[in-house]
Amino acid sequence: MTAQSQEEMDFGAEGERMQKRTVGGGLLITFEGGEGVGKSTQAERLFNKLQTFGIDAIHAQEPGSSDLGNNVRRWIKRANSSSPLAETLLFEAARAQLMFETIRPALDAGKVVVLDRYTDSTLAYQGYARGGDLQTIGQLNNIATAGLTPHLTVLLDLDPKVSLARVSNKPDLFGGDTGPGNTRVDDESQRRFEEQPLKFHQNIRNGYLELSKRDPRWCVIKADQAGHRIADAILKRVRRLLIEREIPESIFKS
Ligand SMILES: Nc1ncnc2c1ncn2[C@@H]1O[C@H](COP(=O)(O)OP(=O)(O)O)[C@@H](O)[C@H]1O
Ligand SMILES: [Mg+2]
Repeated sequence: MTAQSQEEMDFGAEGERMQKRTVGGGLLITFEGGEGVGKSTQAERLFNKLQTFGIDAIHAQEPGSSDLGNNVRRWIKRANSSSPLAETLLFEAARAQLMFETIRPALDAGKVVVLDRYTDSTLAYQGYARGGDLQTIGQLNNIATAGLTPHLTVLLDLDPKVSLARVSNKPDLFGGDTGPGNTRVDDESQRRFEEQPLKFHQNIRNGYLELSKRDPRWCVIKADQAGHRIADAILKRVRRLLIEREIPESIFKS
């Protein structure tokens, strides 16, 4: 962010300090789905929209939005093989760090946290796709997050044949290279997850769909629609959550 845009955000036209709106207890919104379904695109879009509404929000990405997370990401990509449990523990370490340094403080300050991947990714990838024990992964998720469940989880659902084609010409598919705090950490193309057979990605998709049936926090959106339609559907749900938390409806008219 430029110094100028920071100033514009903090000060109104009359030079008065503008109070950004917060939500009691904060709000955690996670984005889930396979590679290339549009998570990073939509997470960023939502974050920008929240900012234009004057809502205090942050945007982060697992596992890359901490120093430890970037290292974990690199280790897992470089390992020739790792067991689902070993992989889970590494992701959980990165998650615990991100909770400690970013997510928990933001929620405690009443911010809306837009998070690109969270605990459900570990269930889908290391559990449903790699065969790790779902109950164990659930327990480890709980330990790493102190049981913090998202208020809303957006599942972008798409046939992996379509989503993988969207990203097949990208050098780094592990979570995109444009996410917040997620500068590219390595250039070699060790695309462990992305180079798995189609069946692996279908298992991820089916795993997510299975998870989404269990809990009303999920909002499943067909991700083969135009980006603005997806964004509208997400915003509709988010608006409802914010209005329920006493954010005045009038601010969404801008
Ligand atoms: N609704 C959409 N329709 C078509 N292409 C899209 C859509 N949303 C995103 N894309 C493109 O698909 C690619 C992957 O999107 P991205 O947001 O990085 O996915 P993810 O973070 O889920 O891996 C990008 O090139 C992006 O521009
Ligand atoms: Mg991404």
